[in-house]
Amino acid sequence: MSETESIPAAAQERAAELRRLVEHHARQYHVLDKPEIDDHEYDMLFRELVDLETEYPGLQTPDSPTQRVGGAPLESFTKVRHRRPMLSLNNAFSADEVRDFVRRAERALGSVHGYVCELKIDGLAMSVSYRDGAFERAATRGDGVQGEDVTANVRTIRSVPMALKQDHAPRGEVEVRGEVYLPKGVFAALNARLEDEGKPIYANPRNAAAGAVRQLDPRVTARRGLQTFMYQLDPPGRAASQEEVLSSLESMGLRVNPHRAFAESVDDVLAYLDHWQDKRHELDYETDGVVIKVSSLAEQAELGSISRSPRWAIAYKFPPEERETTVLDISVQVGRTGAVTPVAMLEPTVVAGSTVRRATLHNEDEVARKDVRIGDTVVLHKAGDVIPEVVRVVLEKRPKRSRAWQMPERCPACDSALVREPGEAVRRCVNPLCPAQRLERILHFASRGAMNIEGLGPAVIVQLIDHGYVTEAADLYHVTAEQLLTLEGFAQRSAEKLVQSIAARRRVPLSRLVNAIGIRHVGERTAELLAEHFGSLESLEAADEEKLRDVEGIGDVVAHDVAMWLQSDDGRAYLEHLHAAGVSAETSHRVEGPLSGQTWVITGTLDSMTRPEAEERIHALGGTAGSSVSRKTHAVVAGASPGSKLEKATRLGVRVIDEAAFLAELAELEPGRA
Ligand code: IVH
Repeated sequence: MSETESIPAAAQERAAELRRLVEHHARQYHVLDKPEIDDHEYDMLFRELVDLETEYPGLQTPDSPTQRVGGAPLESFTKVRHRRPMLSLNNAFSADEVRDFVRRAERALGSVHGYVCELKIDGLAMSVSYRDGAFERAATRGDGVQGEDVTANVRTIRSVPMALKQDHAPRGEVEVRGEVYLPKGVFAALNARLEDEGKPIYANPRNAAAGAVRQLDPRVTARRGLQTFMYQLDPPGRAASQEEVLSSLESMGLRVNPHRAFAESVDDVLAYLDHWQDKRHELDYETDGVVIKVSSLAEQAELGSISRSPRWAIAYKFPPEERETTVLDISVQVGRTGAVTPVAMLEPTVVAGSTVRRATLHNEDEVARKDVRIGDTVVLHKAGDVIPEVVRVVLEKRPKRSRAWQMPERCPACDSALVREPGEAVRRCVNPLCPAQRLERILHFASRGAMNIEGLGPAVIVQLIDHGYVTEAADLYHVTAEQLLTLEGFAQRSAEKLVQSIAARRRVPLSRLVNAIGIRHVGERTAELLAEHFGSLESLEAADEEKLRDVEGIGDVVAHDVAMWLQSDDGRAYLEHLHAAGVSAETSHRVEGPLSGQTWVITGTLDSMTRPEAEERIHALGGTAGSSVSRKTHAVVAGASPGSKLEKATRLGVRVIDEAAFLAELAELEPGRA
């Protein structure tokens, strides 16, 4: 008897129905941007499906939307051979080369029945196969003949349907191809976070997308925010032209770029290129050109391919948005953790839609590698259309007698010797009293992502420090209205208002406070992980390096840095001053509730929620979410691929429950959450 035969027909039907509903609403939200139900209703449908599949594991199909959370990490990727090679395109760099392409196609065919112009997305090519409408496999392009199986990762991309829309899903196997990319905003946020955490950043969204697709741990991919645009369908079914292929893909529920045009003549094509030349900077993804395709599939077949590229398409590449400008100065900036960064101060120039005045040079090795000097003419571009970057120096324009730039040996702000630790690219000022670091630390403390103190911007902070009212963050809470009145731009009312708004931010969520403290390598995200794990500032303060290493998502380097900081005299004094100023973390999760006094431990991945979500729900019921199992642990929730904690729980005789039982228990205890 097969597994499904023992499952009641009603459950099978309901599961199929739920899968369809969840897919439908996920598509409305992620593909079409037109949600029809609110998040809560969606969550309820999703949870019902999880419950059913947990009750009857035979119902859990690989194409179920519950499978998107990201399975267990892989050891490596397996290779897959493409059914047909994934070709590349010939490039055209000018209107003349586009005219040549059109002329060649028209000469070969006699006449061409139109062209489709699509934006060329700067992502990576992907092949996704469906069998009888169900998602089956995804592969990277690789060398065009053989790619890598990235099924587990692509499953986590929300705009890739796990099931094609029923009425339009072709029988048998179909392969769709298209582009996976990272939106500009997501790219900028990712890099900001990586930089904050002292990790290497990505040069452009393409590399970041490739990094996310080639993650061995699908859970990491799931968090990266990848997007897709599809443009090929094989076999094409009833579609007879590229235009029809695109609409078929759309009606199957795949994400297709709405920006495309049918062109009858080469003049139409050229007008389209013109249109997007500047307009492309307004898009939230990077496009490096326009792909021009002979629309009719019959005409495409007749034209065929030579070597690795089709004769029926060409990629027009926009001229790279590069500008020359001069380096007025190279200044060095001291960050809040003492890292000293060289920054090129530039003659203001417009690149990719906005004026650029400065560009980070990252570190001294980078300056040396590019040999950027004061007075140089440099070529500037924007990485990912966002981050200004010096590409290279125009040596022919270098002024005579220029000298190679040297990183200062001493801190520009406090004159103490800079230290470069082995294995690090940055030089740091290690003087804890350095005024530049102090300023940056206080700016960071008050900033939006940290304590978020309204009305306390850089101009005020600089004056507070200059007047000697403030030397560290805790002093902010002692600033009086009288003191503020001695600063520029304050009147009685505005002074009182600022004092109030500072006082109002004495008590903040723990993650904000942890971020505000400004420990090296601890940014917003890491602060959240620490806050979730420790629950209170006191227990974080008491943690040693080993306990810190236990925190999910925290690596050895960060654990070491945090531990060193917490144990240092400066760190202790800093926190003591904050405590004395009445600053504390909202311990909202230390509420009284049915789980008060109980420690729950979660191991493995849960289908219906993330671990922080699960822990939050335990906290909300008064419980503690623990990180390690002991005899005192009340219960262990075992999700998919649980770790050694499950083993230990069994050994110690601690109660172990699965996700379904956990959900049932939560449902019973949570008021108003049936
Ligand atoms: S059509 C037969 N359309 O550009 C070739 N490609 O150099 C099929 N690309 O590897 C490609 N946007 O990764 C096509 N709208 C688009 C595209 C596109 C980006 C990429 C694709 C391909 C490369 C060609």
